Amino acid sequence: MFLDGHIALITGAGQGIGKACAFAIASKGADLIVLEKNAEALGEVTRELKQSGYGVTGHVVDLTNIEELREIVGAIQKVRMIDILVNNAGFDRPGTSDKIDKKDFDEVITIHVTVPLTLIQMLLPDMRRTGWGRIINLSSVYGAIGGKGEVAYSTAKAGIIGLTKSVARECGKDGVTVNAVLPGLIRTPTIEAFMAEKYKREIIADTPLGRMAEPEEVARVIAFLASDDASFITGAALPVSGGWGI
Ligand SMILES: NC(=O)c1ccc[n+]([C@@H]2O[C@H](COP(=O)([O-])OP(=O)(O)OC[C@H]3O[C@@H](n4cnc5c(N)ncnc54)[C@H](O)[C@@H]3O)[C@@H](O)[C@H]2O)c1
Repeated sequence: MFLDGHIALITGAGQGIGKACAFAIASKGADLIVLEKNAEALGEVTRELKQSGYGVTGHVVDLTNIEELREIVGAIQKVRMIDILVNNAGFDRPGTSDKIDKKDFDEVITIHVTVPLTLIQMLLPDMRRTGWGRIINLSSVYGAIGGKGEVAYSTAKAGIIGLTKSVARECGKDGVTVNAVLPGLIRTPTIEAFMAEKYKREIIADTPLGRMAEPEEVARVIAFLASDDASFITGAALPVSGGWGI
């Protein structure tokens, strides 16, 4: 299989898009390292992956604790060469620009921008040394068009596009590609639990394909970007949105 011999680090793979990504990338042959703060979800997903015959190691970590993150990843790097990175973990703190709490704003920037930057800083040197690497960052349609009442999230998701394009320019000649995926409305546990039906209807009405997507529909694109089939794609900000935001 085309990712045999590769090792992928995926953040936030306890559920939703990250979990679907774990299965999509493992099914192409890569071994997985999963960083996730929810110990129960992590236990469940690693069990399911192992039952399917995939190689996976899970670590419980709150990624926003940057020092702890550095320690854990540093220890992993002493024994394993990670050459695929999927910066997926995320959360939202809604609010308009006049009301957003600074702490909420900073937390959203940390998880969506500072954590990906930290992991890129740690993993990119190894990828450059071996001349092959794949970095895929989860942005959002909100990062391209903005979101009403979503000032922190939209700012962070625009930030990760800038990070993607800048790092793509830095390391293309070393065989490392860096791309961002911009999902539209995806049926994940968080969206199902927390997004009001009214907002879902509004987004779907503005989505040419007229529906939400399943996490696997995003995960398949991420697995493609991780593969050699995507060898000439870098710096892309690819919507997987059913046309929402075009
Ligand atoms: N679902 C959507 O409609 C949608 C749309 C656009 C972009 N996205 C983006 O895609 C990514 C995944 O979204 P999702 O809907 O699958 O999310 P989700 O909330 O369903 O799952 C996120 C996972 O990340 C983990 N996580 C969150 N914060 C963490 C932390 N500090 N440390 C470690 N783990 C942490 C959670 O425990 C969870 O398992 C996110 O970056 C999100 O912003 C999602």
